[in-house]
Amino acid sequence: MTTTLRVLDHALLRHKLAPLRDAATPSPAFRRRLAEVGAMLAVEATRQLPETTARIATPLAAMAHRVLAAPEPCLVPVLRAGLGLLEGARLILPDAPVGHIGLVRDEATLRPSEYVLRLPPDLKRRGALLLDPMLATGGSAAAAVARLKAAGAPWIRLLCVVAAPEGAARLAAEHPDVPVLAAALDERLDHRGYIVPGLGDAGDRCFGTEG
Ligand code: PRP
Ligand code: URA
Repeated sequence: MTTTLRVLDHALLRHKLAPLRDAATPSPAFRRRLAEVGAMLAVEATRQLPETTARIATPLAAMAHRVLAAPEPCLVPVLRAGLGLLEGARLILPDAPVGHIGLVRDEATLRPSEYVLRLPPDLKRRGALLLDPMLATGGSAAAAVARLKAAGAPWIRLLCVVAAPEGAARLAAEHPDVPVLAAALDERLDHRGYIVPGLGDAGDRCFGTEG
């Protein structure tokens, strides 16, 4: 399979994924873990942002210091579950403008439909970290990436928690220029399009809703 997916090899990240997968974890704890995973993924996804040198003065001496060459990238959660990752990513990137893409999957066709789109104009010069915990069929992520490209994002990285092989393959086929960073690559999709073993419905678990 051609893939743009990289699974982050990190003991702490795996440790935080266990309670996310555990069906007994209540919604507040699920949200907290999701935010922590969001922060970790954001740190990794920004590892190689271009840098420049700035002159600064410590209390003791002047020095040259490496800093980001461009403003922080935009953060774009796919509603609803992406909001869980956003909470943590914003701790790492507090100056990032936030865009929102509301997508919901039709349970029968598994196709996403869009109900909200609000993107910052700054997207054109900043690039974007797209946040969605679940990459299942890949339909939602592919649609969200297409929206960001149409809005002029110079680069996009997708951050997700659990990916299915089907979704990873679809994203690589439709958007080979978009790297995907995930905490885990799972086995497969079930007949309802849920990731197995996965963690269930991320949006419902995050917000304490059902169905
Ligand atoms: C979930 C999830 C992704 C999408 C993944 O959202 O958060 O956006 O499904 O599935 P796909 O890869 O097959 O498109 P959902 O549509 O359930 O909306 P929600 O977050 O509001 O629950
Ligand atoms: N959306 C989810 O929230 N979970 C899945 O397993 C698949 C799609």
